[in-house]
Formats: sequence, C-alpha cells, structure tokens
Amino acid sequence: VPTVDPELVKRWHAEGGELVDLLSQVRERAGGVAGVRLGPALTVLVTDPQAVQHVLALRPDRYVKRSHRARLLIGDGLLAATGEAWKRQRRLLQSQFTGTGMRRYEHRITEAARTTAERWEAYARTGQSLDVGKEMHRFALDTIWRSLTGHPLDDETAHELEAVEAVGAALPTLPADADKARDAVAADLARIDAVALRAIEAVRGGDAGPDGPGLLHILTDAATERPEYTDQLIRDELVTLLAAGHETTATTLTWLYLLLDQYPTAREEALAAGDAGSEERRRAVQALVHETLRLYPAAWLLPRHAAEDDTLVGHTVEAGTDLLVCPYLTHRDPRLWPDPDRFDPQRFLVPGCRPTHPGAYLPFGIGPRACLGLQFALRESTILLEHLLPAHTVAFSATPTKAQYGITVRPDGPTPATLEPALV
Ligand code: HEM
Repeated sequence: VPTVDPELVKRWHAEGGELVDLLSQVRERAGGVAGVRLGPALTVLVTDPQAVQHVLALRPDRYVKRSHRARLLIGDGLLAATGEAWKRQRRLLQSQFTGTGMRRYEHRITEAARTTAERWEAYARTGQSLDVGKEMHRFALDTIWRSLTGHPLDDETAHELEAVEAVGAALPTLPADADKARDAVAADLARIDAVALRAIEAVRGGDAGPDGPGLLHILTDAATERPEYTDQLIRDELVTLLAAGHETTATTLTWLYLLLDQYPTAREEALAAGDAGSEERRRAVQALVHETLRLYPAAWLLPRHAAEDDTLVGHTVEAGTDLLVCPYLTHRDPRLWPDPDRFDPQRFLVPGCRPTHPGAYLPFGIGPRACLGLQFALRESTILLEHLLPAHTVAFSATPTKAQYGITVRPDGPTPATLEPALV
C-alpha cells in the first residue's frame, strides 16, 4: 500500500488540524488506497469506489467491525454484534425496516412530523427564535421513540435520553481501560438503563400505547421463544436503535437547512416539482436529502479490521491492519463528482449526473452491515420536509462556520433562527 511520509502526520499534529484534513492530504498524495501511520501501526485509508466495495460488500468476512468503545453504550446491540448473533438479530429487525414492515411505522413518523410542524407554526406566529439543530433532534428522537414504544416522546423522557448523546459524544475520549471508562459515564448509563427498563416493563405489562404495538413488542415477543433475547439484549437493541437512529437523521436535517441557507433556489426548485403529495415532489425532496448526505454523510468514517491477509485492488493488506473507509472523501472526489463542493440536488434527479458505482455514494454504508434504518431515515426526512418546506423559510441569526468531525460530522455550534412565512 502506498504510504505517506510520517513527516506529514507530525506536521498535522503540530498544527492541531482536523483529522479530515490529514486524511484528505493522505488521499491526495497516496491515492484511493493509502497508508498512514496515525500511531505505531499502519492504518489504510480507503476512498476508491472499487476498494470501498471490496471491503464493505464483497469481502465483509475479511474486513470486520470492531466496536469495543461503542459496546459501553449499546452492549451487544445490532450495531456492535458479530457472527451468528449478528445474523439472528439482523433477521429479526430487518423485516420491520423494509417493505410492508416499514409501513407499520409510517403513521408514527407522520404524527411526529405533524407535532414538529405545529411547534414551528407557533414559533412563526410569535416570532420566537428556535434552534434548528435542537428541533431536528427532538423530531428524530420522537419518531424513533414512537416507533419503539407506541407513545409520543414526553419532555421528561426526552430529557433523560440526552444521556444517550452524552455517552455517545464521550466515547472517543474515554480511558482505554474498560472499568475506568464505565465509571466515567456511570451516571449517564444509569439514566439510560432506567428509561429502557421502564419502557420494557410497560410493554410487558400490556401497554401498547395510543399508536399500537411498536418495535419493542417485536423484541419482547421474540424473548418468549428465543432464550438469547434476555432483558439485557432487549435493552441493548433499544439503546442501539435510539443511538443509531436519531443523531444521524437529526444532523442530516440540520445540514440540509444550513445548505438551503446558502442555496435558497434549491428549496424553490423542489417545491416547484409537482403538487404536494405527488411522487414528483417526493422525489425532488428526497434529492435534497441525498445531496445533503453526499456532502455531509453523518457516518463519515467506517472503521474495519483486516481479519486475514488480502489483496485489495492490487495492494497487499496484512491481517491485523486497521482500515478507515471514508464516505466523506469519496463523496467529494472531483473525478467522481464534478464541482464536488457545490450543493446540487439535480445530481440525484437527472439520469447520468452521478456515478453509479455502488462504492461511489454510500451514506448508509453498503454490503451486509449497511444501515438497517435506510428506508426509515429517508421516509422520516422526506415526510418532515414535506410538512415544513412549503410553510416557512428559515432565517439563521448565526451559522456555525465549521464542522465537527467526531463519530458523526455535525455543525460545530448552535443554529439559532427565526421563521418567516414562505412566499413561494
Ligand atoms: C448502520 C448511516 C439512520 C440504525 C449504519 C451504517 C451507516 C449508517 C453508514 C453502517 C456502518 C458501517 O458499515 O460501519 C446512517 C445515516 C442515517 C441513519 C446517515 C440517517 C440519515 C438510521 C436509523 C436507524 C439506523 C433511522 C434506526 C431506526 C442502524 C443500525 C445499524 C446502522 C441498527 C447497524 C446495522 C448492522 O450492523 O447490521 N447506519 N444511519 N440508522 N444503522 Fe444507520
């Protein structure tokens, strides 16, 4: 694997730059499969679409996920599970997140969107300021909570579930020692466990909620036939779906509004496409979401570990090597995406405007470990935008000047705004 000069990393350390800037230089100098010594061992950065496809989709048996840190929060939940356990867990949940299974959650998503739209109406009437990022978090959490429990999200639960995000944000900086790491976030984990336990007990007690039985019922029902679905595993799946399913969507919707602030005609073009509720309008709104996910794929780095020796598009990768697949850099490669920094939803509407290689656009990952919630995330984003976009334009009073590249890529700062009645 072509590897960059260690001086590059030393300089980057000294300058205190962002990881994404270093990775971008690594790709520039060493190509789509590039070695870099971030610590004593070699890490391989993978951005070439063919190599991305090989690692994630063609040979996932050779490139495995290792989620030591995430396990602290999500235990053996689907995102961290491996081997046969992962297969069983994925099979159970997959049916709920595709085709007819998904349709069961459609009205809950619509209810959550309607609740947000009503809140935005009130903001618009009173001229009160709102924080777009916080609003999107509330919406995404409400959506997944309703889908899990059958209940709308109340303020107290919303407050307690802030602990999920707090632990998620702390993960990269926690001590390497597992006990010390657990101690550091013990209070937040206890809050999360209490909410999870309450929700599981409510379902066991026959509480289906006004929206009818939810995903949690599927999990507790599974427990009656399958001994592996212990209360601990049900808790782990619940927390996994909360953690994986709300920050990602919320951040995407926040980026989308920040991008519309820079490219207001994109909103007008989407609303000019077809009538409200038409398939044409839906496609145009979904293109806004896709183009946002191209520029800001929430999961911007997908780590893998080589379990055996392999040849990766002509390069030798030894067993034990850590790899970083980086959708963010692939999505901004000018050889794949002309004028890559420009927000242009037409790329996803006009045939021939985007590369069709499966490894060239992968905000939800590809292969067997691709996002479980892909359809769910696209539906909730589209439904919310169909409610909000025609009603208001958002006037930001300040916008974050840069992105924060943590586990997700998110705006680095608050996003205060007021709403103005839409003229178009
Ligand atoms: C996995 C992105 C929304 C649940 C993933 C992966 C990506 C991703 C890239 C694969 C990670 C890897 O290969 O290492 C996103 C984005 C979202 C989103 C960008 C929103 C815009 C959701 C939602 C849910 C969800 C709404 C649940 C309701 C999951 C789960 C996995 C996963 C459970 C693990 C799947 C497995 O390992 O089998 N997501 N996701 N995600 N996502 Fe999402």
